[in-house]
Amino acid sequence: MIFSRIVGTGGYVPGAPVSNNDLVARGIDTSDDWIVERTGIRARYIAEKDVRTSTLAAEAARRALDAAGIAATDIDLVVLASTTPDMVFPSTACLVQNELGIPPGATAFDVQAVCSGFVYALTVADKFIRSGSHKRALVIGAETLSRIVDWKDRSTCVLFGDGAGAVVLAADDKAGILSSALHADGSQHQILNTTGQIAGGEIVGSPFLRMDGQAVFKQAVKVLGDVGQEVLDLAGLSLDELDWLIPHQANIRIMQSVAKRLKIPAERMVVTVDMHGNTSAASVPLALDVAVRDGRIRPGQLVMLQGVGGGFTWGAVLARV
Ligand code: UT7
Repeated sequence: MIFSRIVGTGGYVPGAPVSNNDLVARGIDTSDDWIVERTGIRARYIAEKDVRTSTLAAEAARRALDAAGIAATDIDLVVLASTTPDMVFPSTACLVQNELGIPPGATAFDVQAVCSGFVYALTVADKFIRSGSHKRALVIGAETLSRIVDWKDRSTCVLFGDGAGAVVLAADDKAGILSSALHADGSQHQILNTTGQIAGGEIVGSPFLRMDGQAVFKQAVKVLGDVGQEVLDLAGLSLDELDWLIPHQANIRIMQSVAKRLKIPAERMVVTVDMHGNTSAASVPLALDVAVRDGRIRPGQLVMLQGVGGGFTWGAVLARV
């Protein structure tokens, strides 16, 4: 039987951290106390104008390939999750394919599930590999969210940041990805969106991210609790067997509530929202990479990855690393 396994991780954030006080100094009507207390965020990274989502994605992917000891020429599938692609088309996955020298003929496409994007992309890549059609995939979450936040809206602009995370997923006879579940509820599309589109040579709708923070908060706690239990049940495993929970890094209060609902002790949850802010599709692979590189996540451990965001979308993946 063919399974897929994560054999390397990588992460990349652009430039220097921008602290909450840096935002205050830039004229945003907020405070370090408010942001830390309500969200747990202390800093985020903001890409310079000439840096694109594909630049961040390619760097994270290079690091994942290095960690896996696999050459770009051996990759036959690129699945990239982003809400802030370089262009309307072609896909950012194709741009990364070109940048890394992944051979023509590989499969490459983007997945759009906002902050659930990486969990969606990983699940899709797992299914490709388990079908036998592909052997080595790059799965990437990459964002330049700072480009679509409204810097005049303090209720959202302090939350988001730029970055990318990637994994190499390879075919294996030992099970790595054990179970996954993806869900969506399009009837909730209005609680988190960017409505703008290009039409007739102009942007129609708003080019900025808008969010009903409290509605998103309530939904996120509920669905992440439910989907966490769902993937454990699918794999026939119990919570006691879980080594690490890596939820979407949006808000420490959401993450703590999810851990509480799942009865997972806080010390078994990976937290990077303080360092990176909410990097949407990049948040989960970035957090995974941090915890792999600092030695917290060790080979053979059981890890749960969870995404939630616009759509409304949510999902989880249970993986033995
Ligand atoms: O990845 C997508 C998922 N997104 C999320 O998970 C976000 C989920 N939602 C949240 O994290 C929270 O709802 C927020 C952090 C966005 C907001 O926290 P809250 O506790 O729900 O605050 P609130 O919206 O109820 O606002 C409370 C107060 C308001 O002032 P008044 O009306 O009570 O006087 C806001 O105007 O906080 C004010 N406020 C701020 N004050 C200082 C809102 N933003 C700020 C700010 N700095 N940046």
